[in-house]
Amino acid sequence: MQPIISINNLNKKYLGGFEALKNISLEINKGEIFALLGPNGAGKTTLISIISGISIASSGEVKVNNYDVIKDSLKTKSIIGLVPQEVSIEQFETVLGTVNFSRGLFGKKNNPAYVKGILKQLSLWEKRNSRIIELSGGMKRRVLIAKALSHEPLVLFLDEPTAGVDVELRKDMWNIIKNLKKKGVTIILTTHYIEEAENIADRIGVINDGKILLIEEKEFLMKKMGKKILNIFVNKPLDIIPNSLTKYALKLSADGKTLTYTYDINKDRTGITMLLNDLSNEQIQLKDIQTKQSSLEDIFVNIVKE
Ligand SMILES: Nc1ncnc2c1ncn2[C@@H]1O[C@H](COP(=O)(O)OP(=O)(O)OP(=O)(O)O)[C@@H](O)[C@H]1O
Ligand SMILES: [Mg+2]
Repeated sequence: MQPIISINNLNKKYLGGFEALKNISLEINKGEIFALLGPNGAGKTTLISIISGISIASSGEVKVNNYDVIKDSLKTKSIIGLVPQEVSIEQFETVLGTVNFSRGLFGKKNNPAYVKGILKQLSLWEKRNSRIIELSGGMKRRVLIAKALSHEPLVLFLDEPTAGVDVELRKDMWNIIKNLKKKGVTIILTTHYIEEAENIADRIGVINDGKILLIEEKEFLMKKMGKKILNIFVNKPLDIIPNSLTKYALKLSADGKTLTYTYDINKDRTGITMLLNDLSNEQIQLKDIQTKQSSLEDIFVNIVKE
């Protein structure tokens, strides 16, 4: 696949000497949804700001569509749309006015049909003549997306697009993002909601303390690192786990009603058959069993901890 962004040995030291990015190398493929995960202060916004040309790297190279973000900044900026982490928009301007203004900043001719299209897609068309101050928080977030899309960018950065929005709007956002991908837009988003990456990302990058810890296809990551969990609900609460079952490293719930077994689906033998046999030998009667795939969240917490 062809990269639309290539980052090579990027470093960022802020005034005062704080190293926010340490030797980052990363390629973003054309048309993908890339989710950047990492705790507060990991360097996500710093990285996005450098690619978008808002902040300047201390060393290293960033190319967008083969243009250097410093030498050809006008070109790279026209390719990029940025939805910033902080909501900051002109409160007294109208929705339509502010989106048209953003487009104008890039020297693009008026295109009422295009602007109408994005406002409709973001369910803002009815509010086009409202002033920003009259909108709800979620609507303001959508205005930020409309602004970022106003100049028809090839690459869209969303810095925590769904922080503080309700479940409904979060799902709307995911649909909006997936639709943009269908139109060929490359999307890079940062998020604290692992569920978000799990739902929409093609690839995932984990950043912590200014360093990239991992870059992987989401499906692969979940398969490779994912464990499965078997919950066994017993008829009569247990006081302890019988000795004959210690080899399974089971966990017993506080109420004694649930045994939890963790196994690796990629292994030839999961140990489930033997476990069920041994339970029956111990005369433990089962009420129900349930299996669960460990989530990206478990995987993420493990990576950052290590
Ligand atoms: N202008 C600045 N001057 C000095 N240090 C800064 C500046 N901006 C950010 N930093 C520091 O760089 C580090 C990375 O910050 P950044 O905003 O990139 O983190 P982040 O991953 O986006 O975090 P969050 O999830 O909280 O948004 C932090 O330790 C932050 O304090
Ligand atoms: Mg940030």
